[in-house]
Amino acid sequence: MPEPAMLELQDIIKEYRIGGQVVRALDGIGLRIEAGEFTSIIGPSGSGKSTLLHLLGALDTPTSGSIRFQGNEIGALDDERQSEFRRHRVGFIFQFFNLLPTLTAWENVAIPKLLDGTGLRKAKPRALELLDRVGLGDRAGHRPSELSGGQMQRVAVARALIMDPPLILADEPTGNLDSKTGAAILKLLGDIAADGNSVVMVTHDMGAVEYCDRVITLRDGQIGSNDAVARKTRETGSVHA
Ligand SMILES: Nc1ncnc2c1ncn2[C@@H]1O[C@H](COP(=O)(O)OP(=O)(O)O)[C@@H](O)[C@H]1O
Ligand SMILES: [Mg+2]
Repeated sequence: MPEPAMLELQDIIKEYRIGGQVVRALDGIGLRIEAGEFTSIIGPSGSGKSTLLHLLGALDTPTSGSIRFQGNEIGALDDERQSEFRRHRVGFIFQFFNLLPTLTAWENVAIPKLLDGTGLRKAKPRALELLDRVGLGDRAGHRPSELSGGQMQRVAVARALIMDPPLILADEPTGNLDSKTGAAILKLLGDIAADGNSVVMVTHDMGAVEYCDRVITLRDGQIGSNDAVARKTRETGSVHA
């Protein structure tokens, strides 16, 4: 038996019903996502990118088809287990960072631990370690308003990592950053994948593709292409920019 993939999708269909109308957002998606890979999903607006990302993170369920995570069918889990899956197996990164403005950088990083029942003080060492990992060791006590966009996104990356999830999902993580700052975030996401995780990113940014190992294009809810590519940067370790 071959190793199960980090994620394997078969014949995924996702339809939204609004009034009497049915919109088919995903139309027969099949793909494998491996550990250690940084995958980007690109495609025009409305092609189904966000819908696909939400299904990968069990934020939503498909109308039909199979999604296996490390060999286990996600759809077969009850609600409690799906929410457990989201808390422990998946880290999310968003375009607008979604940091809490009244909390410091390290407290923001610690939030998923708090939601999982760990006390703030107990979560602090790991939060500080991860801020170091993303190059923000000296900003732990700053609030979001005292950080640049790139620094806020680094805090969000650290927050996504605090539960040690094997799967990191990012929806347009560089969409609100200038290209140099965005490139540093992409390099960081590539390093995180190289540590043995899967990173899946939705992006409009064609330049982002060169930081990835695999590029999947979506068009009208179907896969247009799915190609392994050579990454521009391959060295590992933390980056500072
Ligand atoms: N919650 C929803 N209800 C109804 N239709 C939706 C919903 N979310 C997305 N859609 C539709 O599904 C299609 C794909 O949307 P989406 O996944 O957001 O695309 P993308 O992220 O590539 O822009 C679009 O036609 C969109 O209008
Ligand atoms: Mg979208």
